[in-house]
Amino acid sequence: MRTTVGIIGAGPAGLLLARLLRNAGIDSVVLESHDRTYVERRQRAGILEQGTADVLRAAGAGERMDREGLRHDGIELRFERERHRVDFPARTGGSSVLVYAQTEVCKDLIALQLKEGGPLLFGAEALAVEGARSDRPLVRFRHEGREDVLDCDYVVGCDGFWGVARKAVPAGLSRVFERTYPFGWLGILADVAPSHDELVYARHERGFALLSMRSPAVSRLYLQVPEGTEAGAWADGEIWDELERRFETGDDWRLERGPVTSKSVTPMRSYVHEPMRYGRLFLAGDAAHIVPPTGAKGLNLAVGDVVTFARALEHLGDTGSAERLDSYSETCLRRVWQAERFSYDMTTLLHRAPGASPFEDRIQLARLRRVATSRAAETDLAEGYTGFPLE
Ligand code: FAD
Ligand code: DHB
Repeated sequence: MRTTVGIIGAGPAGLLLARLLRNAGIDSVVLESHDRTYVERRQRAGILEQGTADVLRAAGAGERMDREGLRHDGIELRFERERHRVDFPARTGGSSVLVYAQTEVCKDLIALQLKEGGPLLFGAEALAVEGARSDRPLVRFRHEGREDVLDCDYVVGCDGFWGVARKAVPAGLSRVFERTYPFGWLGILADVAPSHDELVYARHERGFALLSMRSPAVSRLYLQVPEGTEAGAWADGEIWDELERRFETGDDWRLERGPVTSKSVTPMRSYVHEPMRYGRLFLAGDAAHIVPPTGAKGLNLAVGDVVTFARALEHLGDTGSAERLDSYSETCLRRVWQAERFSYDMTTLLHRAPGASPFEDRIQLARLRRVATSRAAETDLAEGYTGFPLE
């Protein structure tokens, strides 16, 4: 099989890239190791930055998002039983975010790709990328029990943290920057109306908790748990009891309970692989970088990467200049490191590290108090949360 752009992975990065290229008249083939149901059901991100929503809309993939997505103009920070609202439009000159789940973004993009786009092969596992330094890179893959080859002009690795694309960059050229955290998130979905109309990020002596949502009838909630915790170790009642403790306020706010329909644990890590390009192989999204989920940045970064790649390839077609493709890695990494910094700040602001000293506790509370009382500090958080602009 032969194509212009071989895309490995049909997560949000790979699916959106295929759509952007199709709109620009550039053909591509997407290889996805899992089946369609798996990709459409995997519970992950919930928050789209305004810039991400704008990109999906411009790509023709925003119709259901605009109907069903929930616009949020702020978040609540909760600490020491007090509540502080961060008003996004007031602090950013009008920006907001959209609550629209990654599962739904993927469903919309898959439906469009199958209807109007190039080949999207499920159950097609990329085995290796070869010839990245040549002008004819290829992807070896296995589909329906047979090994095959996808010949390309360019390969984009959108295959997530555990994918194969990154392995094609020689170890001597790779630099990895990494940090793991001694805790994870236990996430649940529950059939109950969200107990607050905006997201609540709570800092508590017992650990962090987050109240989010998927719709006016479905809540998404997270609890900080020790690293290595199994989801099954927590009974539903214990989860609700713990959420209730961590969200407790000094007023009459109440957490509503409902049937838990899904439960899983996510580890927390910060990770950046530099460079994001090797010859004609480009890395995008989680294949190149991971942020801890506290800042809701992972999917939004993935979108930034593929927009940068698609624009660079279009620029080459329009002008003959490869300048933008050549600077892909540097362009993406500037934004990636801002998101890494923001996600690290949000994580350390809100989680309680095991063995944190009384001094560290006081500093954390002082940082939160600063956001609650300084317009400059609140603006910094609002700008980071609503998103860093694409270059
Ligand atoms: P992925 O979604 O990981 O997709 C990679 C795809 O490649 C997968 O479908 C995989 O099956 C496929 N693949 C892997 N290897 C191969 C192979 N060898 N051959 C073929 N296919 C392969 N981000 C936000 O922006 N906002 C949020 O609110 C947010 N919340 C989150 C909450 C949780 C609990 C978690 C876990 C993550 C959250 N994120 C959030 C992060 C976000 O989900 C990821 O950053 C996003 O999925 C990255 O998209 P991607 O397309 O790069 O990678
Ligand atoms: C969700 C996930 C996040 O990481 C976050 O910061 C906010 C919301 C969510 O899944 O809804």
